[in-house]
Parts: sequence; C-alpha cells; structure tokens
Amino acid sequence: MRVGDIASTVGLVAFCLSSGTLASPGRGYYRTRGHELDYTKTAEAAIDSMNQFYYDEAQGRWSPEVAWWLSGFALQDILDFMHKTGSRKYIQQARDVINAQKAPLPWWPQGEGNFRADSTDDTGWWALALIRMFDLTDDHTYLNISIQDEQYMYKYWTSECNGGMFQDIKNLSYKNAISNQLYMLLTASLHNRIPDDTEHLAKAIATWEWLEASGMLNSEHLFNDGLAETSDGVCYNNKGPTWTYNQGVILGALTELHQATKNKTYLTAATSIASAVLSSKALSLSSILTEPCEATPEGCNNDQQIFKGIFAKHLSRLSSVLDGAPYREYLEGNARSVLEKDQGEGGLFDVGWAGPFRNGSFEKQASAVGLFVGLI
Ligand SMILES: *[C@@H]1O[C@H](CO)[C@@H](O)[C@H](O)[C@H]1NC(C)=O
Ligand SMILES: *[C@@H]1O[C@H](CO)[C@@H](O)[C@H](O)[C@H]1NC(C)=O
Ligand SMILES: *[C@@H]1O[C@H](CO)[C@@H](O)[C@H](O)[C@H]1NC(C)=O
Ligand SMILES: *[C@@H]1O[C@H](CO)[C@@H](O)[C@H](O)[C@H]1NC(C)=O
Repeated sequence: MRVGDIASTVGLVAFCLSSGTLASPGRGYYRTRGHELDYTKTAEAAIDSMNQFYYDEAQGRWSPEVAWWLSGFALQDILDFMHKTGSRKYIQQARDVINAQKAPLPWWPQGEGNFRADSTDDTGWWALALIRMFDLTDDHTYLNISIQDEQYMYKYWTSECNGGMFQDIKNLSYKNAISNQLYMLLTASLHNRIPDDTEHLAKAIATWEWLEASGMLNSEHLFNDGLAETSDGVCYNNKGPTWTYNQGVILGALTELHQATKNKTYLTAATSIASAVLSSKALSLSSILTEPCEATPEGCNNDQQIFKGIFAKHLSRLSSVLDGAPYREYLEGNARSVLEKDQGEGGLFDVGWAGPFRNGSFEKQASAVGLFVGLI
C-alpha cells in the first residue's frame, strides 16, 4: 500500500471492546473501506508500541539489555516502513539510532565504530539498514559506511572450507549460514546502488555459489545453522537447527541478485527454499510460521524471538517479484493469526503467531513489525 491509500482507512476495529476507549497505540487492527487489512496502519501501530514500550532514547537503542544486532533489525523495520509508505515519521529516530550506534562499541573498541563489530553477522545487519537509510536520504555518508562494513566483513573470508566468512571475529571461527547470507545480500545490494560496480556483484555471486555447495543447504532445501570441521580440515553440515531466518535472508539475497543479473536461476533457487519452509512440518504448523524453539521447554531466547519476522519480510520481497505473488496469501494468513490470536494489551505480540498471548518483548514486537511491513 502507498501513502495515498491511507486516506481510505476507516479506522480501528477493536477486539477488546470491553475496554471502552481505545488508547493509542491500542489493541486491535485496521481495515480499509474494502474491509482488507490495512498493513500500513497495522505496521505503524505495531512500531509505535515497539517504541513506546522498548525504545531507550538516551541510548539510541531498543531494549539495551538484549543483543545489539536486534536493534539493527528494528532500525531496518522502521526504515523499510518509511521506504514503502513515503512517510518520514521515524526519520529523526533513525538518525539518532545511527549516530549513537556508530560510535566504537564498548565491548569491541578495536572495531573503531561505524558498526564494525566482533562478529561478521552483527556488522551485516547494521550495514544493510544503512543501505536503506541511503535509499531514503540519498546521503552518500550512509552508503559509504556500508561499503566500509563490507570491506571489514570480507577480511574474514578465508580459504578454509573452500571459502566463506567466519562469524566469530574474536576466535576466527565458525563458518555459518547467517553471516554469509547477510554478506551476499549486502554485496548484491551495494552492486545495485553503485554505478559501474563489478566487484560487489562478483562477490555476491561467489558467496551464493559457495553457500550452495557448502553442505549447509540440506536435502530438504533448508539451510542448517552452519559448518563443522574434522581435524583434517574437511567441512560438513553441523545439523544445527533450520532457523526461519536462515531461510529468510537468503531469499532477499537471491532476489537482490536476480535484480542485478536478471538471471532466473536465483529466483528458482529462492522458490525452492521458500516452498520447503511452507511445506515443513517443523517450520509451518497448520500454515502458521513456527520457530523450532517454540515447542521446547525452555522456549525461544531473545535472538530466536525475532527470526520469523526476518523470514516473513524477505519472503514478501521474493513474492512481490514473482508472477501472481504466490506467497502473499500465506503471509496474510499469518498476519491475521498474529492480530487475532497473538495480540495483547498495548498492541503487543507474543512469540507464537498462533497464540496465545502471554507477554511481549522488544524482539517479539520487531518480529511482528517485520511481517506487517513486508505486507505493505
Ligand atoms: C563517499 O566515498 C566516496 C569515495 O571514497 C567519496 O568520494 C565521497 O566524498 C564520500 N561521500 C561522503 C558523503 O562521505
Ligand atoms: C572463543 O574462544 C573463547 C576463549 O578461548 C571460548 O571461551 C569461546 O567459547 C569461544 N567461542 C566460540 C564461539 O567458539
Ligand atoms: C545464472 O546463474 C547461475 C548460477 O550462478 C550460473 O551457473 C549461470 O551461468 C547463470 N546464467 C547466465 C545466463 O548468466
Ligand atoms: C512470558 O511468558 C512465558 C510463558 O508463560 C514465561 O516463561 C516467561 O517467563 C514470561 N516472560 C516474562 C518476561 O514475563
């Protein structure tokens, strides 16, 4: 939905009618005059709740007690919202977050700031958000930081396991899916924004070819978490969980690479991964996206609570470039479930998208925002 359509919104449909007045941001959801869900209004309400309950203005970060990368994704959420709607409602907040977080990190001062962290994936999340900030502002300061971040990450690409980058910079260890998928999305995104670029495109293609051959993509067409290595240096799938975000970022990366090359091979590969998630009993229960940790006694940790929204946003992106938007109906079904069964007071959402709502957290909220923003 684009800005002009907001005017056709008739208002909030409350689920919690007994509460009488509707606080803003309230519990409920928005429909257009045609009775479709209004994803712009819905996403905006969810962002406003995320800010009201979890944004720490003094630190320029949401829930500073949880991992730093999570705020990188929340920043991406508010930037994607503005990019899709034309709104500039959160632009000052985005500037504040970037200005605060680009300082040298207290736990990794040797990175010297500009989002150079102690793990390649942490840098990747922020570098991607900065690209969207460039899209919104046309200010090359932001693009230049992303370019620097790409160079920083590439320092950790080695010949061990025939390529790929390490996740853990301190230990120079762990070649995993998420770091390399983020790097592929970053290099393809840079290529699509730097005139006459060939370097970043070549890196994006090399990263895909490495990922595909690495062993992490299993026979079910799902990515496991990463690689293990024998004492004589042979790398193999570590059979770690097939987290939803590991199936998500790769969809965005393949879509961006298709945009760069017009090579349909990348969309075919993306479709096979997306369809594998939708038909997986572990990741999609009764057509509701499910994280493997949800059914465990210990539940999902802070990081894991955000994963589904990352998947959903990238699946939306893929769907929108395919004929007939084949995944949109699935995502809309998930959004309806989140709104009807997983929503609590204050417009907060819990981790299980099939419900019930027990309590909220910043990561659960940013995840739901990812789903709603994807559907705009
Ligand atoms: C971005 O980097 C380019 C190349 O290094 C430089 O010419 C340009 O001035 C930089 N732009 C900004 C706004 O920093
Ligand atoms: C990194 O190395 C430290 C110290 O040797 C160790 O405690 C830690 O578990 C290692 N981390 C990983 C992810 O291997
Ligand atoms: C499309 O991409 C695949 C995978 O990278 C490659 O093998 C193939 O040669 C490409 N096709 C064209 C026409 O470039
Ligand atoms: C949220 O609810 C779950 C399930 O009842 C519980 O395990 C967890 O401790 C609660 N978290 C908070 C912060 O209250």
